[in-house]
Amino acid sequence: MGTQLEIPPSIFEKIVNAKVAAAMTGAGVSAESGVPTFRGENGLWRNRRPEELASMEGFLDDPRLVWDWYDWRRTTIAEINPNDGHYALAEMETVYDEFTLITQNVDGLHALAGSRDPVEMHGNIWHTRCMKEGTIMENREAPLKRIPPLCPNCNTMVRPHIIWFGEELDTDVLKRAGEAARSSEVFFVVGTSSVVQPAASLAGLAQRNNSLVVEVNLERTPITDSVDLFLQGPSGVVLPDLLRMICRARGFDV
Ligand code: OAD
Repeated sequence: MGTQLEIPPSIFEKIVNAKVAAAMTGAGVSAESGVPTFRGENGLWRNRRPEELASMEGFLDDPRLVWDWYDWRRTTIAEINPNDGHYALAEMETVYDEFTLITQNVDGLHALAGSRDPVEMHGNIWHTRCMKEGTIMENREAPLKRIPPLCPNCNTMVRPHIIWFGEELDTDVLKRAGEAARSSEVFFVVGTSSVVQPAASLAGLAQRNNSLVVEVNLERTPITDSVDLFLQGPSGVVLPDLLRMICRARGFDV
């Protein structure tokens, strides 16, 4: 049983009556499962140089170092389960007529929790891409038997299918995310520091298209001052509470 969130009635009414909604998530939504975030005190980028581990230059310079790091992350994530925040977001698909889950996370936990077709803006840590043919393949081996792993078709080295610094996002993915933000009546922004573009600009895009923007985060972020509602707290608690409130207001069993 969670706590009752304080939401002004006029805002709550919009959240309850909306038919089309979307959510954008970041590392914070997986934090309660034990996946480290990127920024902040114990963040992945605190003692590491992102350009060494998450850029094409870094990869070409030392593929083994980069794959060792991804192998460590994959091995950690393989042991991890979704939390109540992931499950609440998956449940939102049954609450709204249309609900698009957009994530910057590469851990695959939203799909594991039951989100049907998450828009993974930054790729997926369980996918590899052949350096020669560009073929994208699922690879769930953790730990990897061979580092760097090779393409089963042509024996060329593969790379993690993840967007690195300096790389463009996939156009179809970007289009889906933009359309979901534009068409949403409510747009939830959960557990992201909202500093990495273009993901961070989706809330503004939604708002310019008359969507109500609701932010869930432990801390204030650069977008907090402009959102319609800020729910401060852990997403694994706030989201299930919010879901329960919406379901009750709609007369669903909870
Ligand atoms: P960050 O590490 O930048 O931010 C995590 C956010 O989650 C912070 O705002 C925290 O306050 C918040 N947070 C932490 N625990 C939380 C909890 N239990 N409930 C709610 N909020 C919580 O992670 P992202 O914003 O996801 O890119 O980072 C964006 C991108 O930067 C990542 O996708 C990654 C990184 O470089 C790539 O790898 C391409």
